[in-house]
Amino acid sequence: MKKLVEGKIALVTGGGAGMGACDCWKFAEEGAKGILIVDLNVDDAEKVAKEIMAQYPECKCVAVKCNVAKEADVDHCFEVLDQEFGTLDILVNNAGITNKIPFDEMTLEHWNLTYSINITGAFLFAQRAMRIMKAKGYGRIINMSSIAGHVGGLTSGVDYATTKGAMLTLTKSVAKQGAAYGVTCNSIAPGNIKTAMEKVFGSDWDPMAVPMHRLGEPEDISDVVLFLASDMSRYMTGCCLNVNGGLFMQ
Ligand SMILES: NC(=O)c1ccc[n+]([C@@H]2O[C@H](COP(=O)([O-])OP(=O)(O)OC[C@H]3O[C@@H](n4cnc5c(N)ncnc54)[C@H](O)[C@@H]3O)[C@@H](O)[C@H]2O)c1
Repeated sequence: MKKLVEGKIALVTGGGAGMGACDCWKFAEEGAKGILIVDLNVDDAEKVAKEIMAQYPECKCVAVKCNVAKEADVDHCFEVLDQEFGTLDILVNNAGITNKIPFDEMTLEHWNLTYSINITGAFLFAQRAMRIMKAKGYGRIINMSSIAGHVGGLTSGVDYATTKGAMLTLTKSVAKQGAAYGVTCNSIAPGNIKTAMEKVFGSDWDPMAVPMHRLGEPEDISDVVLFLASDMSRYMTGCCLNVNGGLFMQ
């Protein structure tokens, strides 16, 4: 039976840890031919690449050091992508940062930092991916938003929440750009998922408040990423899938 992303080439930003790393494993499990694992922390990205290739030798993984906020770094990623794989089928805009700085104390410098990584980074990758995908008439772009993008920041900063709201609009706008060319763009808005970032959000709220009575696991999100990356989601674009154990329903 054909696997869900068989023969596909994927690029995952922030693929060295957390949900991004889990996405890479899912893609390899489901038949991807190649994955460009992009991360500021290249040691983590290389570790993920090495471990995946040990288990799935047919999936070539290449780690690249990149700050998604820096245009030159992003261009470098696409040069490596071209050399190593020559094409792109799936982009996951996953890299992101958060903080718990109170609104009253938020500096412009910090505000701009969050925007440069969480939203400008996604723009830079989506634009370059779209050029390749439009030309080949196929592509899947998946943007990581957040429950905070719908309901506002409570356990996260105002800067974080507003970038995640912008991610929803970026998704719809990019979806409109790509729809006639076979390129879909969808987003996922996770609730609280057990990763390093979740530790920043903090435990000053009760997981029992989640109707399913638990925090999410990275795999709870990566399975949905996989669905959006596959042809099972072929008639969906511009959508946001809320994956949060029932914490927020639309
Ligand atoms: N964990 C949660 O509860 C949660 C909830 C909602 C949304 N999200 C979103 O999901 C995505 C993944 O979150 P996570 O929890 O796996 O995070 P994480 O902190 O565990 O991992 C993020 C990865 O991104 C990388 N990264 C950070 N800044 C970067 C930069 N400038 N350039 C390149 N790489 C960079 C980090 O090195 C790390 O490997 C993020 O966009 C986050 O905002 C997370």
